[in-house]
Amino acid sequence: SVGPHSRRLVASIDQGTGSTRCLLFDAAGRLVSLAQREHAHRYPRPGWSEHDASEIWSNVRRVVPQALSDAGATPDDVVALGIANQRESCVVWERRTGRPLSPVITWEDTRASGVIEQIVAAGHTEAVLAATGIPPASYFAAGRLRWLLDTVPDLERRALRGEVAFGTMETWLIWNLTGGEHLTDVTNASRTNLMNLDSLRWDSDMLDVFDIPEETLPEIRATADAYGTCAEVLPGVPITAALGDQQAALFGQTCFDVGQSKCTFGTGAFFLMNVGQTPVPSRHGLLATVGYALPGEPPVFALEGSIAVAGSLVQWVRDNVGLVDTAPRIETLARTVSDNGGCYVVPAFSGLYAPRWDAQARGVIVGLTAYVTSGHLARSVLEATAWQTAEVVEAVEQVSGQRPASLRVDGGMTTNHLLMQNVADVLDLPVERPLFSETVSVGAAYAAGLSAGVWPDLDALRRLWRRAASWQPEMDSATRDRERAHWAHAVDRARGWLD
Ligand code: G3P
Repeated sequence: SVGPHSRRLVASIDQGTGSTRCLLFDAAGRLVSLAQREHAHRYPRPGWSEHDASEIWSNVRRVVPQALSDAGATPDDVVALGIANQRESCVVWERRTGRPLSPVITWEDTRASGVIEQIVAAGHTEAVLAATGIPPASYFAAGRLRWLLDTVPDLERRALRGEVAFGTMETWLIWNLTGGEHLTDVTNASRTNLMNLDSLRWDSDMLDVFDIPEETLPEIRATADAYGTCAEVLPGVPITAALGDQQAALFGQTCFDVGQSKCTFGTGAFFLMNVGQTPVPSRHGLLATVGYALPGEPPVFALEGSIAVAGSLVQWVRDNVGLVDTAPRIETLARTVSDNGGCYVVPAFSGLYAPRWDAQARGVIVGLTAYVTSGHLARSVLEATAWQTAEVVEAVEQVSGQRPASLRVDGGMTTNHLLMQNVADVLDLPVERPLFSETVSVGAAYAAGLSAGVWPDLDALRRLWRRAASWQPEMDSATRDRERAHWAHAVDRARGWLD
């Protein structure tokens, strides 16, 4: 019979760095439809990176109806909505009208470096680390908000009068979908430099350090929780989960056991390991972060290695250099040669993230000789992602004393077999990919469906994970050691460029 929720679909919105997509899943966890739209990405100055918040919201208004219509479904068929988002990217808007008062300043943007330098110079680093689990860095959202308050005319005065709302992207979407709920989730809040990692609340000392008016901040909720009901786009549908995209991928990969880990290869690459109910402090350039929090249960923490540039290097050689005309062509081009010909690319476009955190680094291409062809260059572009991942996994081994047994991978770049083989080779670990590699969307749907009772428990979700492909390490250790040394040498060339 046809009635409310007759099809019991779960919707997810993935608001990513490159695009916004809506996916619909049925109760068996199968994908029913997918709609996606890219938005403009502006780089107005070196180190700056922006989106338009209104454009992103209007893309949500297009992709959700598109996904419904492709599925022959209506909002009545949708039981719950989960939202995953690019983390740390943020915007401020006017509470009265919902009008953005700034561009979205993205996570790749380094303009808040000056704010961070002041905080470090004032001796706050240890206090920030102790309270929030993460060091003060321009990667996180608080420096960006402080920069906006300093720079946008009248913003600080209006913020102090309670007229301004701040949010990461899930907060912006929830506000617009519900008509004014101002909420964030613990995973996104854990990337601001403002949330206390023990209490999971805004930390008053950190609000002082970054000089942030609390009136601007959303209320923090668990990952799978009640985020209000959509008034727009999916009228009547409850939003039952929100989480940062990398945490969503951890959830979608069903890394629910301590020690399980995943790496998502998207714009950047992000390794997260489930470390259980006690955070592992940030050391060796890794970050302590919230993995997920289910209502009424203790939060689960993760140890993260963040790599700023992975897929975006392929986009860069496509769009800015013209090395290839489509992203998948990078693999074809790389396969025209059998090695990198001595060439190494270190894509330090936003400085270097994990494990080095060098804001002064800038990208280099080294080892060039007249022998090097476009094929070698393509290979070194892919190897840059593999080596960055290897360094993060080595740091994880140092911190946890444990070597992961295997690595679950997902994201757009995992369709590149040459890259995945290279990752297995340089990590010297088996790499496995699930059937459906858009794990961010899967994770947002799983969290939303769990919260809405579509799936009874984590075991039901575990049973939905299926391996579709795997890669075994094939590189001999002498080659690995030699290449690692060359890579490290290249990274040294990129470091401290702006000093
Ligand atoms: O920390 C930034 C990360 O959340 C962005 O992910 O997939 O949009 O590049 P992605």
